[in-house]
Amino acid sequence: MENFVFYNPVKLLFGKGQIANIAAEIPTDAKILMLYGGGSIKSNGVYDQVKSALAGRNITEFGGIEPNPHLETLLKAVELIRKEGIDFLLAVGGGSVLDGTKFIAAAVPFAGDPWDILAKAAPVTAAMPFGAVLTLPATGSEMNTNSVVTKWETQEKLFFSSPLVFPRFSVLDPESTFSLPPRQISNGIVDAYTHVMEQYLTYAVNAPLQDQMAESILKTLIAEGPKTLADPQDYDARANIMWCATMALNGLIGAGVPQDWSTHMIGHELTALHGLDHAQTLAVVLPSNLTIRRDRKSQKLLQYAERVWGIIEGTEADRITEAIAKTRNFFESVGVRTHLSDYGVGLDTIPVIIERFEQRGFTALGEHKDVNPEIVTKILTLCA
Ligand code: NZQ
Ligand code: ZN
Repeated sequence: MENFVFYNPVKLLFGKGQIANIAAEIPTDAKILMLYGGGSIKSNGVYDQVKSALAGRNITEFGGIEPNPHLETLLKAVELIRKEGIDFLLAVGGGSVLDGTKFIAAAVPFAGDPWDILAKAAPVTAAMPFGAVLTLPATGSEMNTNSVVTKWETQEKLFFSSPLVFPRFSVLDPESTFSLPPRQISNGIVDAYTHVMEQYLTYAVNAPLQDQMAESILKTLIAEGPKTLADPQDYDARANIMWCATMALNGLIGAGVPQDWSTHMIGHELTALHGLDHAQTLAVVLPSNLTIRRDRKSQKLLQYAERVWGIIEGTEADRITEAIAKTRNFFESVGVRTHLSDYGVGLDTIPVIIERFEQRGFTALGEHKDVNPEIVTKILTLCA
């Protein structure tokens, strides 16, 4: 196992009715800014629950944060916070609202151009405190330090990470996700699954606990995903999916093991350039990525084949091929298409992505730092 530091201070309030308990988590004299997206929280009752939990508190609102949150919108919130002297943020929504809030939290005290935090990896040395009420299980943003922001003007989607943007607390009430359309539930299952694969499907470093935790999350997603799609009001199935998504990217399964993340890096370009949902990009890229890099990942692919899919017959090559096919079929079975052509994207996107990667210095991705432009080209060609 590799050396690691594990730190995760996020307090989780999980389960039915937990939104009612947020007042105790926010200082009584705080000037709160409640941030949300396009309005789903107003139609599913979450907005009312938050307002009633915080009755009597000093609370201002900022709505309209888009999916794949736009820098341009987030900077308006930064201005409002500075003007109004807001000192606590409350993100209410999916990963986009949470990520947007993390960026805002870091941008408010930042001296220069806040886009530099993502574009130039400018260090974050301070951030505002914030809490979260999560309404979409997928990203793990509720319990991690990552934030992904899109600069609309240039169609660039970049991320930053800082321990200063851990939420102080996150509420996970599965009932607040019952209103999700099937597409977003499907997306959440695929995103969480791929988060596990980025941390698990690399090479063995004798870390059986991390491996078996990862395999458990994958198997739970495979078992519970179809249940929660078939019956969106099934509380237990949704609770299990929600907990899987959090556990998939809160640092635990990735501690002490090599990590890949090239599927995500390629996927972010497809969202930025073609507007695919985040999870749609992953469903397209992951099966091809595993196929192109199957030789160096063979040991883990065989383990995955056996332990997650029960594939024990056939040659090693056959088992690996079947495990990758099962992965693709699972994504398709939960409703996320797996080819670029399904989204009307042609292979003419490849040189554009390669050029962007070269400009940004993304020329040595993956657990072995061997995912260079040539490999990315092969992966994307296979995505057709
Ligand atoms: O904007 P509203 O009206 O709230 O509608 C949203 C949005 O249209 C809707 N929605 C959310 N909760 C709902 C609901 N509709 C009905 N009922 C509810 N309970 O769902 C739509 C999508 O929301 P969004 O927040 O964009 O989805 P998701 O949670 O999948 O977040 C995606 C973003 O997170 C980033 C992605 O790149 C993308 O920008 N990621 C963040 C990560 C992290 N912080 O660690 C890691 C991930 O790999 C990912 O990159
Ligand atoms: Zn993701």
